[in-house]
Amino acid sequence: MDKKLLIDLQKVPHHVAIIMDGNGRWAKSKGMNRIFGHRNALTAVRESVEAASQVGVEAITLYAFSTENWKRPKMEIDALMSLLINSLKKELPDFMKNGVKVNSIGCIESLPYKAQKVLNDVISETKNNTKIILTFALSYGSREEIVNAVKNISKKVVNKELDLEKIDENTINNHLYTFNLPYVDLMIRTSGEQRISNFLLWQMAYAELYFTDILWPDFRQEHFYDAIIEYQNRERRFGKTSEQLTE
Ligand code: IPE
Ligand code: IPE
Ligand code: MG
Repeated sequence: MDKKLLIDLQKVPHHVAIIMDGNGRWAKSKGMNRIFGHRNALTAVRESVEAASQVGVEAITLYAFSTENWKRPKMEIDALMSLLINSLKKELPDFMKNGVKVNSIGCIESLPYKAQKVLNDVISETKNNTKIILTFALSYGSREEIVNAVKNISKKVVNKELDLEKIDENTINNHLYTFNLPYVDLMIRTSGEQRISNFLLWQMAYAELYFTDILWPDFRQEHFYDAIIEYQNRERRFGKTSEQLTE
């Protein structure tokens, strides 16, 4: 049974965010080291982007490295950074072929120079692609993002570029890394953990949350579609009553 056929193409989430978790446990279950898990994560990335693109999701955001992940052993961080560099290079032809526009959020300046360079190259090469926006959250932390936004807004107020009374939700949104993305409709986290881990707090304020026990390296198109189907079966009330929605 092709799960894609069960999806209502009129009700597809605009923006799907994924916490790609469980690489370490996946590797451990195979008697391998954590890095082996990270190395086997790329298929899941490809399958998710492909699946999203096929049903018309406009934006997919992948949590690849958090501000907290800098606390991991240096060897693991180094391996993650080289994987990022190599994978971006390797995937560029497919991004071009599939109309994928690459974007990034997070404190990109804190990444190793080589990673910044490859990332900027890929972003620039893919900037005119229009099928789907693929955002990598790298050295990303939602609290840090909000602190930066507050600082930048405050500067504008101090410099009289912005009137304090005019600050509203759009002002905040326009000062986040995600200013050019729609709010998150669906957040998927793999590996059974049920937490947000400092990911897109503001942007997820009204997202549907979907947790699956599948470990990230095993995540495939059918699992992505399971999440979309579940999302479509939820009633998004946004504070209203169920009756109001059917009126
Ligand atoms: C997710 O897998 C990848 C990153 C956080 C970079 P983990 O490395 O967190 O895997 P587990 O949670 O230890 O299994
Ligand atoms: C969240 O996963 C970050 C990424 C997937 C990049 P973690 O594995 O780092 O999160 P915690 O530590 O379980 O909250
Ligand atoms: Mg983890």
